[in-house]
Amino acid sequence: MSGKSATLTYDNRVIELPVHGGTIGPEVIDISTLYRDSGAFTYDPGFTSTASCESDITFIDGDEGTLLYRGYPIDQLAEHGDFLETCYLLLYGELPTPAEKKDFDDRVTYHTMLHEQMSRFYTGFRRDAHPMAIMVGVVGCLSAFYHDSTDISDPHQRMVASLRMIAKMPTIAAWAYKYSIGQPFVYPQNDLDYASNFLRMCFAVPCEEFKVNPVFARAVDRIFILHADHEQNASTSTVRLAGSSGANPFACIAAGIACLWGPAHGGANEAALNMLSEIGSVDRIPEYVNRAKDRDDPFRLMGFGHRVYKNYDPRAKIMQKTCHEVLGELGMNDDPLLEVAIELEKIALNDEYFVEKKLYPNIDFYSGITLKALGFPTTMFTVLFALARTVGWIAQWKEMIEDPRQKIGRPRQLYTGQTQRDYVPLSMRS
Ligand code: CMC
Repeated sequence: MSGKSATLTYDNRVIELPVHGGTIGPEVIDISTLYRDSGAFTYDPGFTSTASCESDITFIDGDEGTLLYRGYPIDQLAEHGDFLETCYLLLYGELPTPAEKKDFDDRVTYHTMLHEQMSRFYTGFRRDAHPMAIMVGVVGCLSAFYHDSTDISDPHQRMVASLRMIAKMPTIAAWAYKYSIGQPFVYPQNDLDYASNFLRMCFAVPCEEFKVNPVFARAVDRIFILHADHEQNASTSTVRLAGSSGANPFACIAAGIACLWGPAHGGANEAALNMLSEIGSVDRIPEYVNRAKDRDDPFRLMGFGHRVYKNYDPRAKIMQKTCHEVLGELGMNDDPLLEVAIELEKIALNDEYFVEKKLYPNIDFYSGITLKALGFPTTMFTVLFALARTVGWIAQWKEMIEDPRQKIGRPRQLYTGQTQRDYVPLSMRS
């Protein structure tokens, strides 16, 4: 409690509302007793001014362009750490000691295989199924295979479910890809690091030796770190809402994956790459920038703008660097898509419309080009996002379950439908 309060005058009544202060970020006006005291709800479509929970995991300052996991800036974690260290940090709140890191890596690695029967679950999908459809189905079905980690009231089971999902997600994702291209599933190889193992499961075939390129593995690891958490975004809020009813963690993460699939959220990197391909050459950029500015045209510059960042997305800077590293390794620094992206970014950042509305490149602007260069088809882009975000969803889900004030999420509404009326039998309706 900050000791401050806010005063609301409504219907000739003065209502005092407590104000809470966090460690950083805006204060919040506590309206939890507003309905009881005033008979009115608040109205905030899209939750633009509503804090839905208290959290100490991730902090974003959208005006400054800052992203902190447990207080650590994203660029420092991406530069010096690895993904499993970030997972530990998000789950436990502190960076691990060397002994804790080794123990955690071992515990995750132990769980990388899928129940063998799950391989047959894949074959129930149509060959041309979108891998995100497979992800939603297979992750949801983990609760049908791992009954011993679905009791959410048991802290040990909660941790086992968490480790299982972090460990199995690369296998699930790689197999969704393998299935779509008709290649045999490649089993995890536990002496490889997390990102290398994932690349091998995606791109190796049993009949040939496969050597993971360390530059690509580092790039993928960094992409995972950048996507690991992003406070109360749409998919995380979905996971929390699903979990608030007491649903098991596998079902909650499947709900998060379903939400992430949308083009305004996780699907944006696929959309951004498609847009860059559609623009095709630098001379067509003005045409597309004008379309993005036209209020009567639904076209938007994909990979631009963000609900929270009103400055350069700090993840986009690291993504841009990673993109150059991957293309450099492949000898593709003159890639036409990269050329269009760099020029488009330059033009948009200097255009009055984008400057005034504070529309900057977000992480998806460069991640699509990078993932394409690494050999992933566009349909896999959101799958990689889901893989990486799983730890964030789990950390947020655990925090919610462990919060003694937790109750089922149940928003209210501004009803504008019919008032009560009497049923008319079918035969009497004209
Ligand atoms: N291109 C052109 N105009 C835009 C764009 C864009 N990409 N984004 C926002 N605007 C305009 C929008 O038309 C509106 O104009 P006006 O005030 O005249 O009506 C103004 O900027 C504010 O936009 P908004 O839609 O009210 O902002 P929002 O916070 O609801 O939307 C967004 C955020 C990310 C959905 C949106 O910027 C967008 O659709 N961007 C393209 C999709 C994209 O790149 N999404 C990835 C987000 S980052 C990954 C993640 O975290 O999931």
